[in-house]
Amino acid sequence: MPISDVKDIARYVGQEATVRGWLRHKRVGGKIAFLVVRDGTGDIQAVVSKAAVGDEAFELTSRLTQESSLEEEFPIQPKEHGTGFLMEHRHLWIRSHRQQAILRIRHEIIRACRTFFDDRGFLLVDTPIFTPNACEGTTTLFETDYFGEKAYLTQSGQLYNEATAAAFGKVYCFGPTFRAEKSKTRRHLMEFWMVEPEVAFAELADVMALAEEFLTSIVARVLERRREELKVLERDMNKLEAVVAPFPRITYAEAVERLQKKGNPIQPGDDFGGDEETILSNEFDRPVIIHRYPTALKAFYMQNDPENPDLALCMDVLAPEGYGEIIGGGQRIHERDKLLARLKAHQLPEDAFRWYVELRTFGSVPHAGFGMGIERAVAWICGLEHVRETIPFPRMLYKIYP
Ligand code: 4AD
Ligand code: MG
Repeated sequence: MPISDVKDIARYVGQEATVRGWLRHKRVGGKIAFLVVRDGTGDIQAVVSKAAVGDEAFELTSRLTQESSLEEEFPIQPKEHGTGFLMEHRHLWIRSHRQQAILRIRHEIIRACRTFFDDRGFLLVDTPIFTPNACEGTTTLFETDYFGEKAYLTQSGQLYNEATAAAFGKVYCFGPTFRAEKSKTRRHLMEFWMVEPEVAFAELADVMALAEEFLTSIVARVLERRREELKVLERDMNKLEAVVAPFPRITYAEAVERLQKKGNPIQPGDDFGGDEETILSNEFDRPVIIHRYPTALKAFYMQNDPENPDLALCMDVLAPEGYGEIIGGGQRIHERDKLLARLKAHQLPEDAFRWYVELRTFGSVPHAGFGMGIERAVAWICGLEHVRETIPFPRMLYKIYP
């Protein structure tokens, strides 16, 4: 007899086929039992009739427990559990409808990211995970021993992407990135996946437009292909349908003014924290691009604005509905002397950055790019309260089980 995935069962109409899976739940009457079986591709209801299978098999059916491939009772019952309990049982929790809907949407978002860049002539390059230097500041590095030398888990593929962009023009990398941030917020993970495009001969305005097109295309694809899952999550789809170009673009200075008008105590020069991002991202019905932050708040590689050198040619894209930053990026310094001065100012070791500086010696051109954290994008598109549900096994502050 052929074995079929639940999702393909329609091919076997009028024929016999075997389905393999786990018992999601059951209802047993005196003569008939209904079993809902889950195989990872979908759910199917099986009917067991006493008349057809006999007393013994029917008796066995009535003794089946939830997720009955296990010997014990399945620890997660269809009732309310606390998040702590569910996180401890993450390996089983991912079998629930809701978690499956989220992880299916995650998959769709990842496919949408790849398709977007592949269709536009970007080359996928894989950047290293072990690195000899910091990209996004030295305070959030995970340090490891690399045969007696210090190495760090990458915070971003960007620096290597700048090299590959100079080789191929338009590139993207997509991989795990790490931040040893002692942050316990709904937006922070220690390990997260980032997709990062980098474009030669591009300036800030170009990557703002690219980010806008990128986000609208991802949301449109999820709306088109994952409606069922969005329904399971009770996501308000009108909010997602509003995600169309053009996105508002405001400067950091305008953002500070808006915050102050709302009674926020922020002063010009202060960085935005979670509260500020929440306020700003609640002000618009679609993502908002905030550009030109003070150079002092940003990473060493940021190009500064010729109109006002204290400002960086950078952008953050904040997702609406209070979700906050999902994209960070901008234009990079392409002049060698300026970069050397910046490395010094940030007290970064010139030796480890020798190759990076060398990119500015051989045919250096203006270039720009950005990075989007997949988990934050998933949290927003799914309408979740916390990023911990957006990845099968989240790595959080002091939590590495299961
Ligand atoms: O703003 P970030 O730090 O920018 C960069 O790393 C640049 N080098 C990217 C580039 O220009 N190629 O991080 C980019 C995005 C953030 O907007 C956020 O979505 C995500 O990465 N992110 C995190 N997601 C989850 N947990 C964390 N701790 C995150 N830190 C950053
Ligand atoms: Mg950022």
